[in-house]
Amino acid sequence: MSIDQLVSQMTLEEKVHMLHGSGKFTSAGVERLGVPALTSTDGPLGVREEIQNDSWAAAGWDNDFATFFPAGGGLSATWNLDLAKQYGEAIGQEARARNKHVLLAPAVNLIRSPLGGRNFEYFTEDPFLNKQLAVPYVLGLQAQDVISCVKHYAINNQETLRGSIDVQADERTIREMYLPVFKAAVQEGNAYSVMSAYNQFRGAYLSENDYMLNTILRDEWGFKGFVMSDWGAVHSTVESAKYGLDIEMGTEIDDYDQWYFSEALIGAVKDGKVDEAVIDAKVKNILYAMNQVHAIDTTGRKSGSINTPEHLEVAYNVAKESIVLLKNENNLLPLKDDQVKSIAVIGDNAKRKHANQGFGAGVKTKTEVTPFDAITTKYPNVKVNYAQGYEEKYLPNDLDRSWGLPIDYSADSNLIKEAVEAASNSDVAVVFAGSNRLVETEAEDRKGLRLPFAQEELIAAVKAANPNTIVVMIAGAPYDVSNVHEQVDALVWSWFNGSKAGDAIVDVLFGVVNPSGKLPVTFPKKLEDSPAHATNSFPGGPDVVTYQEGILVGYRWFDTKNVEPFYPFGFGLSYTTFDYSEPKVMNNGGTITLSLDIANTGDVAGKEIVQVYFGKNNSSIERAAKELKGFAKVELKAGETQQLSVEVPVSELAYYDVETSSWKVESGEYTVWVGASSRDIRSEVSVSLD
Ligand code: GLC
Repeated sequence: MSIDQLVSQMTLEEKVHMLHGSGKFTSAGVERLGVPALTSTDGPLGVREEIQNDSWAAAGWDNDFATFFPAGGGLSATWNLDLAKQYGEAIGQEARARNKHVLLAPAVNLIRSPLGGRNFEYFTEDPFLNKQLAVPYVLGLQAQDVISCVKHYAINNQETLRGSIDVQADERTIREMYLPVFKAAVQEGNAYSVMSAYNQFRGAYLSENDYMLNTILRDEWGFKGFVMSDWGAVHSTVESAKYGLDIEMGTEIDDYDQWYFSEALIGAVKDGKVDEAVIDAKVKNILYAMNQVHAIDTTGRKSGSINTPEHLEVAYNVAKESIVLLKNENNLLPLKDDQVKSIAVIGDNAKRKHANQGFGAGVKTKTEVTPFDAITTKYPNVKVNYAQGYEEKYLPNDLDRSWGLPIDYSADSNLIKEAVEAASNSDVAVVFAGSNRLVETEAEDRKGLRLPFAQEELIAAVKAANPNTIVVMIAGAPYDVSNVHEQVDALVWSWFNGSKAGDAIVDVLFGVVNPSGKLPVTFPKKLEDSPAHATNSFPGGPDVVTYQEGILVGYRWFDTKNVEPFYPFGFGLSYTTFDYSEPKVMNNGGTITLSLDIANTGDVAGKEIVQVYFGKNNSSIERAAKELKGFAKVELKAGETQQLSVEVPVSELAYYDVETSSWKVESGEYTVWVGASSRDIRSEVSVSLD
């Protein structure tokens, strides 16, 4: 039966009740016509455990364990598009196996400030890298017959006052920075749904924002799926109905009949405030998406799989390629297991699990390998001296929650003494520091870049006791690690890196894996250097936040304003070295192709991410000094040379011209930088566009 036929047989009540939640994560179907209730589930770290229908409490099932996949940076720092696809496929198979129609992922908001509470879930500060990762993820996910709900649409880049703040950002800024990932997810990823965010944009809540939901998403981009609200993000009946919302979710009212899109919407249609045709269109959007994933006629629907060794392998492969080597002097790394007889394993994060913590979506998983687990399992002959070193502690507060609490930075001298003891009695000391899912959390931004829980004092004391000290940071966003960087010879960055995080980290430490991750965000020397803070426009409030930095988000600001970052965007070392030849540039009018040889000049195999940045010389408008427009990741054996080419469509060089509401490519000369990071430029060439 066609969608139109199906809708023509539905009563107004049946249609309207498809447009609002009938449970925490379900919205009604029309049983008598074979349309099942639409089931959704979080979330970016993996398929969330079953939640009770009418409360946030877990349902307590014993068959909803899932794989904990690396969060946000744990994928973006790989810069590996094939892994992004595998990630989408694996998490999609798990959502399918849990019999969910919609996965509320990926979370792709741009990282505007290092303090963003959900940075750990998001990918990057760069709009190009963002969309390059999101598209294969969405395609991989939806190929498993699961609807991707790409979130949070849009310009939702802080947790402070997230439910009310009115974001003001100029048109060029949203078009060039905040919307590209959603446009690509819709037009290239063919996303079947989008989640309207909590905040307002230019005075209208995203769940009732005509410009964002109708003009841009549907009319300009041709979006055919449905818009599902964030949980509790709906504030009206008629406006939401007229301005583009399809499904109201998570409204904090127990009686579903009292929801905005329930009896009130039926009444609005009967009163002629909302045409029934508008209701029909919403139902059709939902049925369209459901048909794409065989949710109604389930013939041929994929069956999915969950908790499988294959998915653990994907989680491991992503995690291992996401780990970033930030410093390695005196060849302290990789550790040689035939020389290291004892290791001091120090830090609460050596044993901490990150899958299911804090506010918001976590994962109930059977497997989360911690660094301590991995070292003791993989190297049983190495004596491990464990010391907690620091503990998670907070200042007295009257906040009745476990997350986003005021951090106590005071050192615990006993814990440090034990750690010094362990370090003194070991060949090497590895401190696992950073943060956790209670420090970095949905619904609360961080207050600063300082390492929590007196970790700096701990690291200084351990280093003093043992010069062979390595620090592994486990966190989802930038911290001020400048002192740590000065103090120790080796510094490694990992993320909330999933079920196999510990294996990935330990394999990097022992050289089983040569680290190849590169930072998807800039690490500032100090917070005020970051654009949103330099312009005193984060988090804004109490009513409005204005994105004063405009298009100069992240490294665009640092490069254009000549501010030195602590670690630049795209930075990451390797256990080997790479040589770049001078690139050849070809321009066939539609595509600019850079070809160059890259050689592994070290003595171990490794992967390198070659980055291509463009800058417009003598531009007639304000532009960032350089913008990432292409990259390639290559694997090279020791001594191997490969030719690689990076193709940049000329259309990628366009800027958004507000006067004509169109994308324009400036003619004239461009500088092209090829680099190992945004600051480690290996060659510079120019190309002219007529
Ligand atoms: C939340 C989040 C969203 C999540 C939803 C359901 O508040 O903002 O990302 O998918 O509620 O848990």
